[in-house]
Amino acid sequence: MRDEFDEPQPAIETLDPAAKVAAAAAPEALLPQVPAGIQLLNRDFLTDVANIPDGSIDLIVCDPPYGLGKDYGNDSDMRTGDDFLAWTRSWLELAVPKLKPSGSLYIFCTWQYSPEIFSFLKTKLTMINEIIWDRRVPSMGGTVRRFTSVHDNIGFFAVSKDYFFDLDPVRIPYDEVTKKARSRKLFEGSKWLEVGYNPKDVWSVSRLHRQHAERVAHPTQKPLEIVERMVLASCPKGGRVLDPFMGSGTTAVACARQQREFVGYEINESYCAIARERVSIAANPVPVKARPVKPKVKRQTETQ
Ligand SMILES: C[S@@+](CC[C@H](N)C(=O)[O-])C[C@H]1O[C@@H](n2cnc3c(N)ncnc32)[C@H](O)[C@@H]1O
Repeated sequence: MRDEFDEPQPAIETLDPAAKVAAAAAPEALLPQVPAGIQLLNRDFLTDVANIPDGSIDLIVCDPPYGLGKDYGNDSDMRTGDDFLAWTRSWLELAVPKLKPSGSLYIFCTWQYSPEIFSFLKTKLTMINEIIWDRRVPSMGGTVRRFTSVHDNIGFFAVSKDYFFDLDPVRIPYDEVTKKARSRKLFEGSKWLEVGYNPKDVWSVSRLHRQHAERVAHPTQKPLEIVERMVLASCPKGGRVLDPFMGSGTTAVACARQQREFVGYEINESYCAIARERVSIAANPVPVKARPVKPKVKRQTETQ
């Protein structure tokens, strides 16, 4: 299961030139400014989670090591088989009680382990969806003894049937051609045609290849578009999100952008530093004039 993410990644500079000039004049300006309400903890989730009060979290976004042997600068992804599943159950046992009665949980995983993980979670929570993340991997030959795997599985679970879910901020607008095609009398006045449609459970979003504008030095960084959709739909504004394995801080960035509180854990100090910098940039965007020009990345979502 090797892909481009297995290769060592060069450090990627994210500080823009205008900020660098300011930092030379006042070195303290280099320290990332993380807003109040966003906690980025360089700690082990399993030993520190007891500090989070039970029933205090609106949404848990879990993107744990998948059990595929990735190098996170530690041996956290070296467990396989029963050992990996026992570890997964042990941290889920600790995480689930932190949810409010209206809370929900998303977990990223792979087809190798999703059946066992979902069965286990179904003994504790209500399963709402299985979302397939189609990583839009280009066809390049590869395996010849089975079909090429190009998706991650995401389980969406809730504590109760009264879980918080706000569809409107994540609706996908119809383009003009589709709107026109649905202009028959039957569709006249339909709210859904104006406000956009409910995302389907197959999310086609490009993985962050090395040249991607969003990419930082983390081997399995998730696209912001995916995580932001989870935050917008499943956490009320001002609510609190937990990420037990925050990596480069994608969930924290989504929370900083969307006015949600956040607490996240990461055992690798350099990933925490990346998370701090990303959150600081998201929370204190550089004025448009000072921003370096970046190539536009077309967001690919799904067919209508
Ligand atoms: C799949 S990555 C998360 C990637 C993240 N979603 C992003 O977009 O950058 C999993 C992360 O969990 C971290 N990790 C592993 N065991 C941990 C633990 N016990 N507590 C906190 N973090 C841990 C790893 O170092 C790794 O960076």
